[in-house]
Amino acid sequence: MIQVKDLRKMFGSKVAVDGVTFNVKRGEVLGFLGPNGAGKSTTMRMVTGYFNPTAGSVLVGGVDMLEKPELAKSCLGYLPENAPLYSDMSVVGFLGFTAELRGLYGAAKMKAVDRALDTCFLDSVRNQSVDTLSKGYRHRTCFAQSIIHDPEVLILDEPTDGLDPNQKHEVRNLIKRMGETKAIVFSTHILEEVEAVCSRAIIIDHGKIVADGTPADLKRRAPGADAIHVVIRGFAGSGIRAELEKIIGVEKIEPKSCDDSSFSGRVLSTHKIKPSELALEIAALVSAKSWKLEELHREEGRLDEVFRSITRSDVV
Ligand SMILES: Nc1ncnc2c1ncn2[C@@H]1O[C@H](COP(=O)(O)OP(=O)(O)OP(=O)(O)O)[C@@H](O)[C@H]1O
Ligand SMILES: [Mg+2]
Repeated sequence: MIQVKDLRKMFGSKVAVDGVTFNVKRGEVLGFLGPNGAGKSTTMRMVTGYFNPTAGSVLVGGVDMLEKPELAKSCLGYLPENAPLYSDMSVVGFLGFTAELRGLYGAAKMKAVDRALDTCFLDSVRNQSVDTLSKGYRHRTCFAQSIIHDPEVLILDEPTDGLDPNQKHEVRNLIKRMGETKAIVFSTHILEEVEAVCSRAIIIDHGKIVADGTPADLKRRAPGADAIHVVIRGFAGSGIRAELEKIIGVEKIEPKSCDDSSFSGRVLSTHKIKPSELALEIAALVSAKSWKLEELHREEGRLDEVFRSITRSDVV
């Protein structure tokens, strides 16, 4: 549904997007992650035809955005980062107006507006003027305009930004549900959102894709992925640590606390030994020494660790 190839955008001499390539299929929700200024919004603006790329191509539903922008845009909904709203209109008036822009009139328009009001939980403010809405409701009104024509492709730039926790949850569920039948790209700075909603995630940094995979794939790239977390009692922590270091395949011990009678921390392996084997070795050591094993589990990598390890924070 979305085919992006070697996309590039320069602002003067500044390279904002530097050769981005990705595809999104129907049924896929792609998360866009990256530090501030990485190029996420600029990429989305090119995918939606809002900006012309300096180089590269965008196909939406197989239609070239540069050659046939109107046709390509007809199957696409876009929630921009700082969406402008016609502030003197009521919510229902604004949505009716956006429906007309999409070629919907009469009963089809009414149906589209009611569906969008319902989907975005806007019914209670339907007749309120847009300029008196709270930030979250304004944001939801923008979301509603992006889905007014029930598009097959959705590009959502930080769709949960500014929403309260309940609404964040609702919007995530909505994206997930819509993602079953549509192709969705959304950007976020909330890493749990990626795990909760995305089938795939891309991390973009300095205009380039630096990681692309399922959330589980990405987590495996975390520096602490597959470490074994232990809490052992019954001996001096320093002595326990020294014995753990002797296990073949152990690369490093990261203590969390170490005192006269206990050790807690994580054991990192060289990856020549499987985490399950390392866990068994640790359990055998504890048993041979008659120590007490209080906790032992394999740590999943964390997305924030992956993010920090592969992105730089010096973007301006
Ligand atoms: N219209 C513009 N003119 C000049 N530079 C721009 C313009 N739009 C974006 N940029 C620059 O392009 C780079 C990428 O910006 P972009 O808005 O795509 O980042 P982002 O990843 O969406 O960041 P954020 O997480 O803060 O939303 C930044 O350095 C930004 O200053
Ligand atoms: Mg942005």
